[in-house]
Amino acid sequence: MSTPRFLPMLGHTRGKRSAVTCALKCDSQCAGPVCNTSSNSYFPDVVASEVSRRAALGAGAAAAFAAAVTLDTADASAAIPAAPKRPFTGDGKLKFTPIAPVPANVDAMTVPDGYDWHPIIRWGDPLFNDSPAFDPNKQTAESQARQFGYNNDYTQVIVDPAHRNGRRGLMFVNHEYTNPAIMFPPSMDKAEQRAVSRNAHGLTVVELERDNKNGPWRYVKGAPRNRRFLLSTEFQLTGPAAGSDLVKTKADPSGTRILGTFANCSGGVTPWGTMLSGEENFHGYFVGRDTKEDKRYGISSKPTAQGWEQDDPRFSAKNPGYENEAHRFGWVVEVDPFDPSSTPKKRSALGRFKHEGANVIVAANGKVVAYSGDDEKFDYLYKFVSKKTYREGDRAHNMTLLDEGDLYVAKFTGNSPASEIDGTGKVPSDGKFDGRGEWLPLIKDGKSMVPGMRVDQVAVFTRLAADLVGPTKMDRCEDVEPHLATGRVYVACTNNSNRTQADEANPRTANRDGHIVEIAEDRGDQTSRTFSWDLLLVAGDPKQGDVTYFSGYPADKVSPISCPDNVTFDQAGNLWIATDGAPDGIGYADGLFRVPLSGRERGHVTQFLAVPNQAETCGPIVHSDEGYAMVSVQHPGEDGTWEKQESAFPYAGGPCPRPSVVQVMRKAGR
Ligand code: FEO
Ligand code: CA
Ligand code: CA
Ligand code: CA
Repeated sequence: MSTPRFLPMLGHTRGKRSAVTCALKCDSQCAGPVCNTSSNSYFPDVVASEVSRRAALGAGAAAAFAAAVTLDTADASAAIPAAPKRPFTGDGKLKFTPIAPVPANVDAMTVPDGYDWHPIIRWGDPLFNDSPAFDPNKQTAESQARQFGYNNDYTQVIVDPAHRNGRRGLMFVNHEYTNPAIMFPPSMDKAEQRAVSRNAHGLTVVELERDNKNGPWRYVKGAPRNRRFLLSTEFQLTGPAAGSDLVKTKADPSGTRILGTFANCSGGVTPWGTMLSGEENFHGYFVGRDTKEDKRYGISSKPTAQGWEQDDPRFSAKNPGYENEAHRFGWVVEVDPFDPSSTPKKRSALGRFKHEGANVIVAANGKVVAYSGDDEKFDYLYKFVSKKTYREGDRAHNMTLLDEGDLYVAKFTGNSPASEIDGTGKVPSDGKFDGRGEWLPLIKDGKSMVPGMRVDQVAVFTRLAADLVGPTKMDRCEDVEPHLATGRVYVACTNNSNRTQADEANPRTANRDGHIVEIAEDRGDQTSRTFSWDLLLVAGDPKQGDVTYFSGYPADKVSPISCPDNVTFDQAGNLWIATDGAPDGIGYADGLFRVPLSGRERGHVTQFLAVPNQAETCGPIVHSDEGYAMVSVQHPGEDGTWEKQESAFPYAGGPCPRPSVVQVMRKAGR
């Protein structure tokens, strides 16, 4: 028997990324070989003729913004918070004194003075009237199917327009992966553990309520729209891969009906009020056959960490009829949270890779543009441009926009001499990291633009298609979000310990702390084939001697930050950054940080909260207009065992930590 990919008691050095998380969440990608062995350049090329990006961002951007916030009043999107007409910086009702960095092993939620936190919903909380209460010592697959899942990641809330005074909302949550060593009593049958694990994956929609706009959100057990998306939930595959021979299996000869979604990391919300969710580290759930395609996607032929292939033949490509099952994962999923009977969709037009998430903006010409990163060392940044245009008030039409369109991959070119990009992250002599970029077409007008590949091949094997057109190898693109007011796109590059050759958009070798790229599409047109870009920041702790860059803001006045992952915007135009991996980088707990994007405060990073021991901060939602923030606290105490837990979060008793969605708000009367 070959060696399993995961040994439960792998050694773990404090301060280093947990071996448990590495094995369970991403199939130990950091330790494994680099999947992208193509010869694409790290773009050391230098272009002298850079146009002024700021001059290029004018009326077009304003028009794009106008389109982006033209919300459909008949739609749920009417309640999506509109961005301000002009970007500005400010606190709104979310004034705070930054917290000091918290040492990595502190098992506490740390919030600013004058603020409190509470969990809105925790792993195992009952969702339906018939759901059993959470009993960690008596877990069953059936009860988990009716309860909130594990390891909440992307989280979004749409305030329900059907209720007055903003008192009801719909929350959407991804459950990325499970950690059996701390979830289950060791005496529990292993097959039952796997069955519970499967039902702890997937997605949740749950209704929220509050007494008034200043009151805390709480979830509503038994609400009519509450829903779990499980491995038994049928998804429809749409777009160029639908019906392709590459996605047909014994159980689905049509190649259009896929059971389940898993490894859902981040996501996005559309202007028509649906939720997008990225199937990210799906490769770790499949036993492959060591094909060229398997290797490019990191699918190994060894037993998996979760071991689901022991229970269901579709998780091994060695079982005849299931050679293509893994091709049915790695998509962006679209869910209508308002209709609990709706069939969720997998949108193959956005390509198949380790989607962190996807975020959309409506361009000035009405086309919908979706940005998505492939979270893998040396992989790429993508954008999709819809064929059809957004129609105000026509939700049924808008829900088809992600079915058909053009798919591009990004190539970045710096404008500084290569000699000035020395791999340290030191800013070049022109005072900033910036340059030009190009979107290279993979699919256009329904046709493959990649020689030798059919359009369905491009959709299913997007990484291999992209390898052939020469995009830029990035330092693990996580969230990629357009700012609705400015149209600028923020790309969180979380880290890349393997980088040996720097380029201006990835300017640090052995990039431990990550950076954030800011893209401005030419003429403010989100559908443009060309763009300019800047780095917003090169993360790290200047006080520890790290070479950092904060858009020119004095480095000694910022909160240290490492491993940017999920991002969001507040109503005042600021970017908020959730981190994943700061303990490995700067030795502090992960947290949530604010950074203004314009004016004198641009680059001034301040820390709002820190998460408990061994947790990652995910799914930030920030309402500076209502004075609160939410985060998903993922994998608290991930290195523990059932007998020796390493976090007690959320501190309500019980034998094991419970990943939870948390709201942080002002203390009553403050
Ligand atoms: Fe699940 Fe890209 O982090
Ligand atoms: Ca992430
Ligand atoms: Ca986000
Ligand atoms: Ca991450």
